[in-house]
Amino acid sequence: MAQENMREILIFAINGERFEVSNFEPSITLLEFLRYHTRFKSVKLGCGEGGCGACVVVLSRYDIFNDQVKSFTVSSCLTLLCSVDKCSIITSEGLGNTKDGFHPIHERFAGFHASQCGFCTPGMCMSLFSSLLNADNSPHEDDAPPPSGFSNLTASEAEMSISSNLCRCTGYRPIADACKSFASDVDIEDLGLNSFWKKGDSSNPKADKLPFYDRDNQINVFPQFLKNELGVLKRQSWYTPTSLSELQVTLISILAEKDERVKLVVGNTGMGYYKEIVPFHNYIDLRYIPELSVIRMDQNGIEIGAAVTIYEAISALKRENEAMGEGESVFVKIANHMEKVATRFVRNSASIGGNLVMAQRKHFPSDIATILLGAGSTVNIQMDSKFVTVSLEEFLAWPPLDSGSVLLSVQIPHTKIGNEVFFETYRVSPRPLGNALAYINAAFLAEVSRSETTNGVTVNNIRLAFGAYGVEHAIRVRNIEEFLVGKKSLQLEDLLEAVIMLRGSIIPEVGTTHAAYRRSLAVSYLFDFLYPLIGAGDDFEKTINTNEDQGFLLSGSQVVETSNEYYPVGEPIAKTGATIQASGEAVYVDDIPSPPSCLHAAFIYSTKPLARVKGVKTISEFLPVDVITFQDIPNGGVNVGVKTDFGLEPLFADELTRAAGQPLALVVSDTQKHANMAASSAMVDYDFENLEPPILTVEDAVERSSFFEVPPNLYPKQIGDFSKGMDEADHKILHAEIRLPSQYYFYMETQCALAIPDEDNCMVVYSSVQSPAYLHSVIAICLGVPEHNVRVITRRLGGGFGGKSVRSMPVSTACALAAFKLRRPVRIYVNRKTDMIMIGGRHPMKITYSFGFKSDGKITALHLDILIDAGITIDLSPLITHFIMGPLREYNWGALSFDMKLCKTNLSSKSSMRAPGDLQGSFIAETVIEHVASSLSLEVDNVRKKNMHTFDSLRNFYGVSAGEIHEYTLPFIYDKLAVTSHLDERIKMIKEFNGNNTWRKRAISLVPIIYEVTVSPIPGKVSILQDGSIVVEVGGIEIGQGLWTKVKQMTAFSLSSNLCNADDDENLLDKVRVIQTDTLSLVQGGFTYGSTTSESSCAAVKLCCDILVERLMPIKNRLCEQTGSVKWEALITAGHLESVNFAANAYYVPVAGTGDYLNYGAAVSEVEINLLTGETKILQSDIIYDCGQSLNPAVDLGQIEGAFVQGIGFYMREEYLTNSEGLVISDSTWTYKIPSIDTIPKRFNVEILNSNHHKNRVLSSKASGEPPLLLAASVHFATKAAIKEARKQLSSWSQRRTDSSYFHLPVPALMPVVKELCGLDNVESYLENQISRG
Ligand SMILES: Cc1cc2nc3c(=O)[nH]c(=O)nc-3n(C[C@H](O)[C@H](O)[C@H](O)COP(=O)(O)OP(=O)(O)OC[C@H]3O[C@@H](n4cnc5c(N)ncnc54)[C@H](O)[C@@H]3O)c2cc1C
Ligand code: FES
Ligand code: FES
Repeated sequence: MAQENMREILIFAINGERFEVSNFEPSITLLEFLRYHTRFKSVKLGCGEGGCGACVVVLSRYDIFNDQVKSFTVSSCLTLLCSVDKCSIITSEGLGNTKDGFHPIHERFAGFHASQCGFCTPGMCMSLFSSLLNADNSPHEDDAPPPSGFSNLTASEAEMSISSNLCRCTGYRPIADACKSFASDVDIEDLGLNSFWKKGDSSNPKADKLPFYDRDNQINVFPQFLKNELGVLKRQSWYTPTSLSELQVTLISILAEKDERVKLVVGNTGMGYYKEIVPFHNYIDLRYIPELSVIRMDQNGIEIGAAVTIYEAISALKRENEAMGEGESVFVKIANHMEKVATRFVRNSASIGGNLVMAQRKHFPSDIATILLGAGSTVNIQMDSKFVTVSLEEFLAWPPLDSGSVLLSVQIPHTKIGNEVFFETYRVSPRPLGNALAYINAAFLAEVSRSETTNGVTVNNIRLAFGAYGVEHAIRVRNIEEFLVGKKSLQLEDLLEAVIMLRGSIIPEVGTTHAAYRRSLAVSYLFDFLYPLIGAGDDFEKTINTNEDQGFLLSGSQVVETSNEYYPVGEPIAKTGATIQASGEAVYVDDIPSPPSCLHAAFIYSTKPLARVKGVKTISEFLPVDVITFQDIPNGGVNVGVKTDFGLEPLFADELTRAAGQPLALVVSDTQKHANMAASSAMVDYDFENLEPPILTVEDAVERSSFFEVPPNLYPKQIGDFSKGMDEADHKILHAEIRLPSQYYFYMETQCALAIPDEDNCMVVYSSVQSPAYLHSVIAICLGVPEHNVRVITRRLGGGFGGKSVRSMPVSTACALAAFKLRRPVRIYVNRKTDMIMIGGRHPMKITYSFGFKSDGKITALHLDILIDAGITIDLSPLITHFIMGPLREYNWGALSFDMKLCKTNLSSKSSMRAPGDLQGSFIAETVIEHVASSLSLEVDNVRKKNMHTFDSLRNFYGVSAGEIHEYTLPFIYDKLAVTSHLDERIKMIKEFNGNNTWRKRAISLVPIIYEVTVSPIPGKVSILQDGSIVVEVGGIEIGQGLWTKVKQMTAFSLSSNLCNADDDENLLDKVRVIQTDTLSLVQGGFTYGSTTSESSCAAVKLCCDILVERLMPIKNRLCEQTGSVKWEALITAGHLESVNFAANAYYVPVAGTGDYLNYGAAVSEVEINLLTGETKILQSDIIYDCGQSLNPAVDLGQIEGAFVQGIGFYMREEYLTNSEGLVISDSTWTYKIPSIDTIPKRFNVEILNSNHHKNRVLSSKASGEPPLLLAASVHFATKAAIKEARKQLSSWSQRRTDSSYFHLPVPALMPVVKELCGLDNVESYLENQISRG
């Protein structure tokens, strides 16, 4: 390349603005640049590994030869800045913003209530934007254009556009609706609750009410000035060779330098898996070498260059398949499989070659290696100056490719699939549509000949490839291939023998999780492939790899009854700030610009559960500025990181670390990246001499009497006489056991803080915390300063779910300590791995129970022994004992006795997570009910009804919390739900379905809940400014739950209903602004938890407004007498002239005896399990939930759906594992799988019951934040019932088995667990049975 075509300066555009950068580290990512070097903060860091979508941007490249701009999403956390040379980047702010006006995507996300905490929202918007852009720039030519205001995108494509993005708050349904509202084929009546029109609104066309989308007037994503930019970026440390020979020369020259580390790079997405702690000195970008970007088709097959992206490869394979005319070829199967590899925004930049090299060199569990192996591919490689072509099989078996070798391309033979040629690929993973590694993948190619007389088949040739099951690389099972080839007229016996042989061939490496399951999946795949080939399989129902139900959310309905009694309270108005959340302008802690001289921090945590810490060393290469430990606590300060009503906890381990994950030190450095690198490469010298073994289980804790004390006033009271109840029983179960695991919060925004030293030993701390007032105290104690020297400010959280109530205190305190010592601002944004390891999570428990019951199912006595694992510190754990008993009392057990112990173990401290204790309590209750039903072979529903409370027994179990008789809505809800969900008809249909299907079973379960909540005191402050605008402060924190929205509505109602003229229809909503919590402005803020902070904040605000009303009423009356009516602004002006005090403070304290109350709801869920894979599909969930008189039905609906889906995560998907030393090993998006849009119920119907007046409640409203989470147990119990069906069938096949009517389905009911209970060897049993029947 000519010298003048080279540039040392990196040129690109962000949101149309030109950027020229010359001084940068080559390892800097686009995300780092955007967040730390520009004003654009909408890209959020959720994981840093390509697994969440929070950082998605749209990247556009100009193809000068075709004069075409190509735009696609990428994860900015993995994209290297240098690789965006001459590219244009659009972030959510670039779509629209407060200044220039919002984009309809932003407005529709807000209007469909699709943004709660908002941390995922900009990424979601960008994913949708990219799909709209591509659909509308290249309309489907044959199709009629969509109506004005709509896109060419179809509804399922619209949903698909965000299928790779994660959201922890909403449950996805409203996001799907916002996306579908753009689709050309959407039925507008199917769209969910929104603020554009009311349900039942007959006005047409409704589409006109949607913010207008002009598909013909798209944002210019690629500025002209970039099109004129010439040359290629070439500089020391970032090389862009344009030919193979130049690449060779570059490689040789760099590798000749001692200590120089070089990385060949295409998309850099491999970094998402192999986190490179030590950055490379040199990068060679392979994308400019023509041989590596080739896509060439000839009669033998297709050659795909190593630098071709997965997305481009998919398009090319589909294109070539189509070009070859009728029928399918191997290509289309490969393309379909590739569509489930990684995420959309990863596939757009990830290369085929990068994937294969990762598989070859580092044993990455690749899909692409396996499917290309199955298809019989070869690869072309350049080794030094030699060019080599070898089979992929050989390549994978080579020793790891050295850094001087380059993969050039892969050649996939062309094979047409037909009557005698079969090709199939397989992958089963925790998420059906991708964004999860496969448990095992496979690709099979068979050439057969059919006998005309017997219809039997003879296998002439077969290739069976398996990979990703805990094996170095994808392999072919040659022994089975050889066994099958040549078998005349393949028989069931052959198939049985083949699967038995396969079990011996698929052997995962030691330490592979779910090893037995992976092997059984291999068998299922082979069975699925071969069985239909055998004549016997004519009626075989395919259950793996079917493309049915690709549209994930098929439908959803929301029934809400609004009331205008307290208008605008009760209106489903859009969430305050939702549009700025969507555009990314909403400011979270890490978005606050760094003050001058700001430093960044990262934690060094213990990896051992119990050890003496002799020293902590960091590597000087990473230039840490300081390492802060307990020894840096200033004079007068205390090593304290947590304060709750149960005491103080240390900030750092002192000489002894007492839990894996305990903070040992805080490294402070110039950037967050350097701090992270210094922390993760730190070496800790542990000493174990003379230490007792750590306590790692509740059993160990019992043996060593290691318990926390529960204050007697918190310990719940026993009910009735257990022995007497047992005496009355006809049947007794004397011992049964269940275990419930932990769960990680997975808020999208990890823990973060910014501490800024102020004059006179003061400290200002911005923190993402749910309890600023407590944090305030902790910081003061730690620093040894009076509390008035500390100020904690919290505006909004990117999700909390309880994880930022207590566990964020040490994070912010450590930051404050570092800032105090160094006299410089210090900030921290804890990376996902550290967050997952340090922060703890839900309390795991072991429950043993005994109970007695009558022959009709009435339970007479229940006793529970509950061992709660609290971890190393007390946190808020004593409350758990109280909370467990809330939902547990939902049935009339006759007598209820229990013994609960709070075990102190050497594990990270467990903390409150949404519905803490309550979740477990309700599960225990339902388990006992189900146990009785199983024991007596009764319908569970009958047993449930038999044991449901009358109002009298409810009073007996709950005391005054039970309220008044008309408030006990559960029996009504229960019956209503059975009717509205068509329970009886569906039970019949399920029976029929199960009779007709061998490998899929369905079941349905209805679960009720009673949930007790407590309303806590909270402060509020309302001030009216001179222009009549109103500013509100409350103790509660906006964590996405809509607290600000409800507070705003309450303020508007309380002031306008008294002070505004009803005839003028004055609405003060637009005049109210709720502002951040500042602990020096408003004291006694308390905790935001327990579902009731919104209503108590509203109550506090109402008290403030009442004060203001009292002050202003005389003026209003006087002015009204004079002029007939008075406008708000005039009233305020008059008030100012008369020196009215326009600021009112109040501290809301519930009236004694009214602070606790009960919430009711029920859910019915229908599931389908796959007996070959263990997959559970949630076909439908219907919920009815009593919100009293909802303060805002849209907000409450969001809480109900979001909580339910988080509950699905707990019951079905999220596995939070530790190693043998108690260190969390589920520490990334790779290993921890929260629900994604493809795993929520396919039909999702929610009704909010308006149960009208509740005397002691805030404007008759009730809580919604936590209780609905418990309802997800309906999915678990339906799964269990479906497994029961599978087990019945299994026992009918196999003489070896007996059908045990009662079995325990563990939580979470992961695919491996379900499969295990359905029989890991059910295929063998089935075949044996078929053979024996002849
Ligand atoms: C969130 C996520 C999920 C994923 N899920 C899956 C999945 O389900 N299934 C699956 O199969 N894969 C999955 N992947 C892996 C993904 O396919 C690879 O990361 C990607 O294909 C690598 O391509 P790249 O261009 O980004 O490689 P890079 O990251 O640029 O490079 C990867 C490695 O290969 C080397 N390299 C690249 N090209 C060459 C070459 N031509 N010659 C020699 N060395 C080379 C690089 O030096 C580097 O060591 C996932 C990745 C992510 C981030
Ligand atoms: S932060 Fe980039 S994908 Fe999660
Ligand atoms: S709104 Fe999606 S993560 Fe909070």
